[in-house]
Amino acid sequence: MSILLRGAPVAQKILSEVASYARQHVLRLDIILVGRHEASEIYVAHKLRQAEKVGIRAVLHHLPERTTTHEVVDLIHHLNQTPEVTGMIVQLPLPGHISEERVLDAILPEKDADALHPQNLGLLAQGRARWAPATPWGIIELLLHYELPPEGKHVVIVGRGRLVGTPLALLLSRPLPYGNATVTLCHTRTHGLLNYTRQADILVVAVGRPHWFPAEGIKPGAIVIDVGIHREEGRLIGDIKPEALTQAYAYTPVPGGVGPLTVACLLDNLCRLHRAQSENQ
Ligand SMILES: NC(=O)c1ccc[n+]([C@@H]2O[C@H](COP(=O)([O-])OP(=O)(O)OC[C@H]3O[C@@H](n4cnc5c(N)ncnc54)[C@H](OP(=O)(O)O)[C@@H]3O)[C@@H](O)[C@H]2O)c1
Repeated sequence: MSILLRGAPVAQKILSEVASYARQHVLRLDIILVGRHEASEIYVAHKLRQAEKVGIRAVLHHLPERTTTHEVVDLIHHLNQTPEVTGMIVQLPLPGHISEERVLDAILPEKDADALHPQNLGLLAQGRARWAPATPWGIIELLLHYELPPEGKHVVIVGRGRLVGTPLALLLSRPLPYGNATVTLCHTRTHGLLNYTRQADILVVAVGRPHWFPAEGIKPGAIVIDVGIHREEGRLIGDIKPEALTQAYAYTPVPGGVGPLTVACLLDNLCRLHRAQSENQ
């Protein structure tokens, strides 16, 4: 029987610490959402709900699809200058005509709750990050909670996305207590993908293809993290084929694995931003 790596207990622990911090400090999270994107609207609603639950004021700026890069950047500049705003996120993906880079670059690094600004990514690469993108950080929290430290393990990550794969590869390879893993980062140009994934002690799949990753790509006894979330016929499913998980030593269920940690770690980031801002005053 494989061990189920449930995110809820870890997320609850983080959220109760966030709530305790929010009782002592006024925190505000601004969320910018552009256009109509069903999955994004569900994620944002969840973030707003969870923020209110732990005593963080959350403000949504839902802009129409036709909004230009310039208009989004203007709003970010305004929020950068608004002292009440502790941190902000721009919900990705943005509509195709908007420059993701120009938008993310406009966020003040000290208000960048998703840690996607190049300065924050640079600190992360140097092992000096004080906050990190929420989903990869949640994966590390999960591994540490279940006493599965990545140190010395071969971690294979499938997907080098900006939100998950790339920052996770950096975090896990740093010479820090949560890192010290040997990391292989795979993507669409990887030849013989399954030859790599079969060597993984810890396999992370963050690709965005429903029930795609096959059983023959998993080494029996591996720890398997499924980051994918897809809504199909009213239910949530991951990137990995369900039958592939039976041979894992431990794995994250979808739903209920990585998902709950993403929001908890985002709100935890807001506390981290607030601490850093207070120190700089
Ligand atoms: N659980 C959560 O809370 C949470 C949070 C964030 C994201 N997600 C989910 O995680 C998944 C990944 O998110 P993301 O933002 O990182 O996605 P992304 O930016 O679109 O990146 C996807 C990555 O997968 C790679 N890929 C796609 N098809 C592949 C294939 N056939 N073989 C090997 N690699 C392949 C792509 O390679 P190339 O770079 O070569 O194109 C790319 O690097 C999505 O399902 C998303 O919904 C979940």
